[in-house]
Formats: sequence, C-alpha cells, structure tokens
Amino acid sequence: MSTLFDPVQAGDLQLANRIVMAPLTRNRSPNAIPPDIAATYYAQRASAGLLITEATAISHQGQGYADVPGLYGTEQLDAWKRVTDAVHAEGGKIVVQLWHVGRVSHTELQPGGGKPVAPSAITAKTKTVLIKDGVPTFVETSEPRALDAAELPGIVHAYAAAARNAVETAGFDGVELHGANGYLLDQFLKDGSNKRTDDYGGAIKNRARLLLESTRAVVDAVGGGKTGIRLSPVTPANDVHDSDPQPLFTYVVQQLAPLNLAYIHIIEGATGGPREIADRPFDYEALKAAYRAAGGKAAWMVNNGYDRPLAEEAVKEGDDLVAFGKPFISNPDLVRRLREHAPLNELDKATMYGGGVKGYTDYPALG
Ligand SMILES: Cc1cc2nc3c(=O)[nH]c(=O)nc-3n(C[C@H](O)[C@H](O)[C@H](O)COP(=O)(O)O)c2cc1C
Repeated sequence: MSTLFDPVQAGDLQLANRIVMAPLTRNRSPNAIPPDIAATYYAQRASAGLLITEATAISHQGQGYADVPGLYGTEQLDAWKRVTDAVHAEGGKIVVQLWHVGRVSHTELQPGGGKPVAPSAITAKTKTVLIKDGVPTFVETSEPRALDAAELPGIVHAYAAAARNAVETAGFDGVELHGANGYLLDQFLKDGSNKRTDDYGGAIKNRARLLLESTRAVVDAVGGGKTGIRLSPVTPANDVHDSDPQPLFTYVVQQLAPLNLAYIHIIEGATGGPREIADRPFDYEALKAAYRAAGGKAAWMVNNGYDRPLAEEAVKEGDDLVAFGKPFISNPDLVRRLREHAPLNELDKATMYGGGVKGYTDYPALG
C-alpha cells in the first residue's frame, strides 16, 4: 500500500513523494516580475514531490492583485527561469499556476484603467489588494463588464501561449490551469456568476465550455502529461455559487478524462475554511469515481486543511497526491518534518501577502 512518502507518476511528471506545495500568492512581484529571492523561496521547498507556484497571470487583463507575477512578458519569463533552474538544481519539480482573475480585479490593475472582465456584469462581493503608499490595502473589486463572445478565443489563446512560454522558455515541468476559487474559469462554470444566454451560459455544457476549450488549448500547446487543473466545486471564495454543483463538476471531469492530464486537483470545501459546508454538500468520492469511469487516468490531488494523519488516510484510500498550503509557507522542509513527526513552525499571518524576506525565505528548517 502506498504512503505519503512513496514516489508516484503524474502524467509526464515523476514525483519523489506525494506531498505537493499548493499554490500560494505572496504579492512580492513588483511589475509582475518574480523577485530574485523567489528562486531561494521555491528552492528551499524543493523536497516536495511537486511545487505549484503562486497564481500567475496569463495576460495583463488576467491580473487582479498588486504585485502578483505574470507569464506574458520577457522579463517575467526570464525571472521564472531563474526560479525553475534553482528548483531543478535541488532535484525538485515545479509547475506554474495559470491565472485569469476575471472580475476579481480593480480598474487600477487593468490595461488602460478599464473595467475587469467577467461572464456577466455582476460585481463580486469580495476584495482585492492594492498597494497604497507602499502598504498593501484591501479594496472592493471594481464593477466588471461582460465579455463579448468574440473576445473568448483570445482568452483561450492566452492560456495556450502562457503554457507554451512556461514550459519552453521559463523551464517549468508543466502547468496548472486555475479553475478554482471564483476566478474567471470558475465564474463561467457557476450559475451564480454566469447569466449569459449565448453558447457560454445556461446549460452545464455551455458554462463548462470556456474551461474545457482553455484546457484543450493548453494540452495542445504542452501535452496532457504536463497539464493539471485545479477545481473547487463548492468554495464560496470570491463570491461564487452554483445551484447544483454535483452534475456540473461530474460533467467537467468526464470531459477532462480523455485529455490524459497529469493531475486533477480538488479543493474540498471552503478554500482555507471548513472541509464540509452544511448548505453546500458535495460527494468527492462520486466525483473521482465518475472521472475514473470515464477513463480518466490522471493523478488525483486533494487539498484543504490536511495534516499528516488526514493525508495518510487520503493516500491509503486511493488519492494520489495531497497539497499543503499554509504549512508550506512556514515549513520549507515540510516533507522531512512530516516524515519525522517533527513539530511545525507557526505561520506568521502578517507576512503572508507582500513584504520581503521576512516570512518568506527566513522560516528555519530543521538542523
Ligand atoms: C497566503 C495564501 C495564498 C494563496 N494563494 C493561492 C493561489 O495563488 N492560488 C490558489 O489556487 N490558491 C491559493 N491559496 C489557497 C491554497 O492553495 C490552499 O487551497 C488553502 O490554503 C488550503 O490549504 P491548506 O489548508 O493546506 O492551507 C492561497 C492560500 C493562502 C493562505
């Protein structure tokens, strides 16, 4: 029987263990360029079976927070290459999370100060971060405009171009589409944020169209074996809601099955919150079974609130990978600490978003 510390194959990715660093936005990339210390930060964590980077914008339009990185400019790609080289020098594997925030943005972050874009012109009741006088400040997101159907092929193309640049130029081992947490692809999926009446709204197959077109385009660009996708069926993050998520996500994973992806990454419950939500029940085992019944062979990755016992249980029950978020911020050597049952460093919440070395590269490893 497999344990957390056993190797596993996820598509083209041969992983040394089943412990994954979840994507973690750190707001330390002015001008959307990862800083030099990002190479140190990720390399310190390279003993994870897989590192998933912080969410990284596929285009300027896809940008929604101050000082988050991008993947659409030469300097951004050069900076990411320094990160992937540093991780590979430590024997690690790293994929980049491809991000379009959709409506979770602010006019100050958009090209030409324009409105953020969304499936429908409905403002998200959520906040984003701007830097005001050097201080990260939470502000309401701006009112979005509904995307014209004619703009959607450009977004699909941006996902594919970012994926190609990530692998060919920046040296990533693969990419993860961010289909979770109330960002653009999730906004299209869910009927609380998608009120469209064209081919991209209404029926489940229409709401899933943009996510599936984008995933297929990424697979065409870099190969299914280098492509993962993150989904969060019931998270309330960023004000998303669906009236009937089980059939919606069942359809999505059935359509993903033939793409021979590296992994499917599922956030169970409310991201960073309860794993079960009373008024949003969801059967994750049924979702996985539907994917396998449709022929899906990707590694199955789970996340949200895992500790060692829960993660061991998940692997024993047949999940392939477990992603840890907050524990990886404060424990660069999380794999060793879990293996040795060592205590974990405490997380300093004040340095999660923005700042420099403090709370980023200065958490101690075991001696
Ligand atoms: C500081 C911070 C930044 C995060 N940034 C991202 C992100 O960029 N992309 C994403 O999909 N999830 C993001 N998340 C969610 C985490 O990936 C993860 O789903 C969440 O923390 C729950 O896992 P955990 O209980 O192991 O921390 C972030 C969470 C935190 C705490």
